[in-house]
Amino acid sequence: MKIIGTGSATPELVVKNTELESFLDTSDEWIRTRTGIEERHIHDGNLEGLAAEAARRAVENAGLSISDIDFLICSSVYNRFMVPAMSCVVQGLTGAACPCLDINGACAGFVYALEMADAYLARGRHRNILIVCAEEPTRMVDWTNRATCVLFGDAAAACVVTSGGDDVLFRMHTASNIDVLHGYNSAGNCPYDKSGRTGEAMSMNGQEVYKFAVSSATEDIRALCETAGISLDGIDHFVLHQANLRILEAVRTRLRQPVEKFPHNLEHYGNTSSASVPLLLDELHRAGKLKAGQRLAMSAFGAGLTTGACLLTW
Ligand code: ACO
Repeated sequence: MKIIGTGSATPELVVKNTELESFLDTSDEWIRTRTGIEERHIHDGNLEGLAAEAARRAVENAGLSISDIDFLICSSVYNRFMVPAMSCVVQGLTGAACPCLDINGACAGFVYALEMADAYLARGRHRNILIVCAEEPTRMVDWTNRATCVLFGDAAAACVVTSGGDDVLFRMHTASNIDVLHGYNSAGNCPYDKSGRTGEAMSMNGQEVYKFAVSSATEDIRALCETAGISLDGIDHFVLHQANLRILEAVRTRLRQPVEKFPHNLEHYGNTSSASVPLLLDELHRAGKLKAGQRLAMSAFGAGLTTGACLLTW
């Protein structure tokens, strides 16, 4: 499998940390020093429009037309559609004419989608698969809770994958843990529901997630390199889920790698869930920073708790 095109679309509205100070007991200084985040983009209600734009840009970047796409996978934790799936909405907006499917692998969703695409391509029945990650974590948090709402931003990012290239290695893991990270849907007005659940914004034990993120990313990347028979120094770019600069730094120092190999853009977007890795990938690709033959290690973690890591040659 190889990635042949990338694209992304982010909302116009940019909200700086200082703007949050007006309604939250927080500060630009706290957010910057604890997370590295300086600002985030927040959409106006049209996430599907962003998703379709990211998809179009990825297809164009791949040098294809939308009719060349024969499968569309959308990774989305949450969006305004209960049904249909976001991928079906994106299909209509882009004019694609292929089967569509949504997945929810939380912030690790992109790597899960990549692994699925790899398996579909290996089966030989598909040529070009479009992966679109469209996320609005800003609608999942309680905006009176400073512990979570400052961390997230909205975005859509996509890529087109096709057969060919060197083998891609994956390492996926799920360790069920509802306590540390969860949010609840409401039960609606079902007269038979005994739970009385009314829906609850996302809540998170930040320190537990932090520890999990650092240890799993470090372990997964080491294990992938061992399987591939290469040293960590043989990796050119470590493209990690953009949740917190301190997490990136902790992984980087454990792997004893230079700062330049750990690109980041979370200062401008915050945590955009599964869109974060393809958003960064698109930024690097369009800036000409990914050269053919270079090795990339990707790693993401999220609610579940899920992790996904991948080693591929660009
Ligand atoms: N502004 C000011 N103070 C704050 C804020 C805020 N926005 N948020 C928390 N605080 C306070 C706390 O109340 C606490 O105060 P106290 O000491 O008086 O009790 C203090 O700051 C320290 O809080 P901690 O939670 O210990 O801060 P920590 O250094 O652990 O940073 C953070 C918190 C940024 C959440 C960090 O733990 C983290 O990044 N964890 C990983 C989270 C993550 O990556 N999640 C991604 C997965 S999400 C998904 O999959 C959908």
